[in-house]
Amino acid sequence: MHVVNLGMIGGGTVGSGVFNALQRNGDLLAKRIGVRINIVKIAVKAFDEPRPYPIPRSYLTTDWRSVVNDPQVQIVAELAGGTTVAREMVLSALRLGKPVVTANKALLSAHGPELFATAKANNTNLYYEASVAGGIPIIKALREGFVGNRITHIYGIVNGTCNYILTRMTRDGMEFDAALKQAQQLGYAEADPSLDVDGLDAMHKTGILASLAHGFWVEPSQIYVEGIRAVTQTDIRFADQLGYVIKLLGIVKRLDADGRAAPRVQVSVYPTLVPKHHLLAGVNDVFNAVFVRGDVVGDTLFYGRGAGKDATASAVLSDLADAALDLKLGTKQRVPAFAEHERYGKVVPIEEVSTRYYVRLEVVDQPGVLAQISSIFGRARISISSVIQPEDHKGTTVPVIMMMHAAQNAAMLHALRQIGKLRVVKSKPVMIRVENLE
Ligand code: NDP
Ligand code: HSE
Repeated sequence: MHVVNLGMIGGGTVGSGVFNALQRNGDLLAKRIGVRINIVKIAVKAFDEPRPYPIPRSYLTTDWRSVVNDPQVQIVAELAGGTTVAREMVLSALRLGKPVVTANKALLSAHGPELFATAKANNTNLYYEASVAGGIPIIKALREGFVGNRITHIYGIVNGTCNYILTRMTRDGMEFDAALKQAQQLGYAEADPSLDVDGLDAMHKTGILASLAHGFWVEPSQIYVEGIRAVTQTDIRFADQLGYVIKLLGIVKRLDADGRAAPRVQVSVYPTLVPKHHLLAGVNDVFNAVFVRGDVVGDTLFYGRGAGKDATASAVLSDLADAALDLKLGTKQRVPAFAEHERYGKVVPIEEVSTRYYVRLEVVDQPGVLAQISSIFGRARISISSVIQPEDHKGTTVPVIMMMHAAQNAAMLHALRQIGKLRVVKSKPVMIRVENLE
């Protein structure tokens, strides 16, 4: 049996998951691919950290360079996280011509083009299946499964922590902070959980999906992002009455109609009202789902655990198998890490994108209030689709919920600024975008 030697950096949630999965299924993997993956060394920060799965001390070192530089090590797995030292780890392995497997979407988002170029220059490869949507093989699907398609739409629930929090808030009425704490205890959240709840982790992943689908590198600064901190129980309840659930969606939508010109693409992440009858509305807890529409295949949906030690380990194992096979067969760039196939594509700024909206206003309950509000929307040529004002509300102000037809974001934001200044409007207008996913 052909053997390849693996050096790992990181023995935490993902790293210990990979160690455990290789102990459990290493024989099976070896039989399937004809190569045995043999772990040589694992770098960690401190020997005595508690780990989700135990790793014998004999594997451990605290010197990541000794892993990368070990002449025995043929593949390096970077499962440490972060964007500074991790960049050094990955670059130094690639410069030695060693294939690298990473789960680090923040690193790819920040330094993707440099890392891909370094892999190519050193005739090796960079694999990152675990970087998006945990155990779902979405990178392989986009790069290989859909290689013959023009991708027109991707809607992704790609952050397990946010989906877990929104599910607990919706189903159990749990407060945001308590739900986040649970997600952290379950090993779903990033070391800095603001990456999750402020939408940045979903932004990293959505940027990777957009880049693969459209063939030009989407920089994080081009992606419009809103996280879930502002989502309240009040809006969850009104959305429910209107037939929607609130999900944090990564959206990659091709806006040019004919599909032949260089792509003009919406790339954004924001809390979204999703119709309850759509499959994405039923994706709960830590589960992720990615809806992909291609011009040949039509609609597809991928579903699975988006975070956690075992699901993520499954994706890392798939990359390790590809890297090991490439080494065995000498096919080092069979599927390049990133192929630039549409160099002139563009991300359309959110202001120019048209969406539908849910709007909640807190207003004084007196005659003429709705007329003032609707005349501002009317002047902005934004059409109201329906209005609800609950009759049984007690207090000095009442909520007014409006569902709006599609309008450009710039026009909507301008109208809401004007509405927010009306004397009868008593708090900052709440606006959540709506997707019918058609
Ligand atoms: P953890 O914090 O659980 O593990 C990080 C590991 O890296 C630890 O073992 C830590 O050592 C080690 N480490 C950190 N810095 C160094 C260093 N300088 N030298 C040597 N070892 C180091 O993180 P996760 O396992 O959760 O995440 C790892 C990566 O996987 C991140 O990029 C994350 O975004 C990504 N990811 C995580 C998922 C998840 O569900 N958790 C899912 C998909 C991707 P020590 O144990 O001593 O602290
Ligand atoms: N923190 C990430 C999430 C881990 O919750 O989705 C998986 O990438």
